[in-house]
Amino acid sequence: MHLTIRNAAVLIGIALCVGPWALAADPDAGTPTDAQKALSQKTIETCAACHGLNGRSISPTFPILAGQTAPYIELQLHAFKDQTRADPDAQAYMWGMASQLDDASISGLATYFSKQRPMEGRSGNAALVMQGKELFTEGVPSRQIPPCASCHGAKAEGNGPFPRLAGQHAPYLLKQLLVIQSVLRTAPVMHGVIKDLTRPQMEAVVAYLESI
Ligand code: HEC
Ligand code: HEC
Repeated sequence: MHLTIRNAAVLIGIALCVGPWALAADPDAGTPTDAQKALSQKTIETCAACHGLNGRSISPTFPILAGQTAPYIELQLHAFKDQTRADPDAQAYMWGMASQLDDASISGLATYFSKQRPMEGRSGNAALVMQGKELFTEGVPSRQIPPCASCHGAKAEGNGPFPRLAGQHAPYLLKQLLVIQSVLRTAPVMHGVIKDLTRPQMEAVVAYLESI
């Protein structure tokens, strides 16, 4: 049988069984049993199949989760679960996965991945990176594009619901800018910000982000 990655996503989704979450830092939850710990570990391993060991994905198809902010991860997992993040890849890969997760698991996973060591930047085309840096830190005043840094942080480290972008795979970021601009992915705050961003500007800014 030819097992495509999308079929694999469905199979993993079916196999994924989430019980009481052991990693959530709830002081009233008591000490997690060995069985609970094993189950949590299993869920993390399921995510690792695509997102890499500890969320440090090496494939540009799969976003890096290591060091992402916990509130953003939590918001996205809920958006996959209630199907409001509805671009084609979100549907194909993450809807089934998120449908298996309860609130406690979602917050446990968000905490876990936010605490993993982020990926180091990978250098790219120097001219493109410089152009991207300017766009990220200064925006494009003549086109009313605000500096990305004003929300995503001076070093693109993220802040609460504003995702970390530093070190993320450039092809993933580019795909997100395109699906957000075309409103295939709903992201109310971002639509206005990037509506006039051109494709070359997108390519520059994602090259910069991957490099830091
Ligand atoms: C079969 C592969 C696969 C598995 C398994 C998987 N994911 Fe994903 N995940 C993806 C893909 C692909 C995307 C990007 C979707 C898009 O382009 O919108 C994604 C996106 C995400 C995002 C959004 C990241 C961002 O920067 O916006 C989060 C959070 C996430 N996954 C968490 C998880 C968690 C937690 C698990 C385990 C319970 C998991 N994923 C399992 C493939 C997978
Ligand atoms: C006013 C605040 C704000 C500004 C300015 C802003 N963003 Fe965002 N951005 C957000 C928020 C909030 C999200 C999360 C959207 C969601 O809810 O899915 C986001 C999401 C993103 C994502 C998706 C990340 C992922 O992991 O999937 C990318 C890429 C991105 N922004 C790039 C940019 C770029 C490039 C700029 C500058 C041209 C920019 N942003 C300016 C608020 C902002």
